Amino acid sequence: MEQEKILITGAGGQLGSVLTEKLQKKYGVSHIIASDLKPNMYFNGCFEIIDATNFDALQTVVLKYNITQVYHLAAILSANGEKAPLNTWNVNMKALFNVLEVSRLHNVKKVFFPSSIAVFGDNIERTNTPQSPNLTPSTVYGISKVAGENWANYYFEKYGLDVRSIRYPGVIGYQSLPGGGTTDYAVDMYHKAVKNEKFECFLSASTTLPMIYMDDAIRATIEVMEAPIESITIRTSYNIAGASFNPEQMVASIQKTYPEFQVTYKPDFRQNIAATWPMSINGSKAKNDWNWKPKYNLEDITKDMIKNLKLKYSVENIDL
Ligand code: NAD
Ligand code: SER
Repeated sequence: MEQEKILITGAGGQLGSVLTEKLQKKYGVSHIIASDLKPNMYFNGCFEIIDATNFDALQTVVLKYNITQVYHLAAILSANGEKAPLNTWNVNMKALFNVLEVSRLHNVKKVFFPSSIAVFGDNIERTNTPQSPNLTPSTVYGISKVAGENWANYYFEKYGLDVRSIRYPGVIGYQSLPGGGTTDYAVDMYHKAVKNEKFECFLSASTTLPMIYMDDAIRATIEVMEAPIESITIRTSYNIAGASFNPEQMVASIQKTYPEFQVTYKPDFRQNIAATWPMSINGSKAKNDWNWKPKYNLEDITKDMIKNLKLKYSVENIDL
């Protein structure tokens, strides 16, 4: 384990900033190379500016540090992606190809590629959505994730590159802000509640989606990467279960602490995206193959978010 050198692309984002710290603790700060389009002033340790769509920039860093694993998080997410579909396809696919090719050429041992509940589309069972229905995503982001899953499988089958992947539900965490997805409302709602502000939700009250708490998402990422190779039977991407709920249920959960918290609903284009996504996920393959179990349900998420955001905002006020 001491010999691993791990590169994270998109490390400045919602998941990347938390994953970087977790991997630094696990492997040692000098073993983790965080990278993104811009420097992140919050990182301790090694940081490199890499535009993942630039093959040479990526290759230079992989060679410079003798990288053994890549966590490839850089991407444009679902809602932002719809604002510039062709650019989203170019960025998401080019960055993935570069990671796969550089890894193949320079003997990187393992690659993590995050997929998403956005791979699903119309004509699925929306409750307990199975691992392998027909995937007809409604967004360019979802199309890029389906293609990415198939390329991950191709690189494993053809070149033996050990690419592992999970389909994250919407990720909720207090540590970082989300970056332009359809599930961002959930994080925003907790921030508004703790600041005693009103919240306008861009999804309707009854829109149930699969969600996952940041701690569970990061743990799943590390667990799938550490699972024995023979236990990984899915080389496209694993469904993983978290918690499923809608905005109305979130409000009720928050109102146990903030009874005055008020939410209005003004669905926008993101409602149409959410309408094609599952309401809950069948994660039985991940459970059977590498023993995946989520720890956080809605009430646990609400308690932990409120506790940590209260702390965060009180510290910020002291700083002012
Ligand atoms: P984010 O938008 O918060 O972060 C993405 C990061 O990628 C940003 O810091 C951005 O600057 C960087 N980036 C964008 N283009 C880049 C490029 N060309 N080169 C280098 N960096 C670039 O996203 P996130 O929520 O942290 O998601 C991380 C990964 O997990 C993404 O692949 C996303 O599709 C996937 N995912 C996230 C969620 C979620 O709810 N957050 C759910 C499913 C899947
Ligand atoms: N949470 C992500 C999004 O909304 C799902 O991939 O885009």
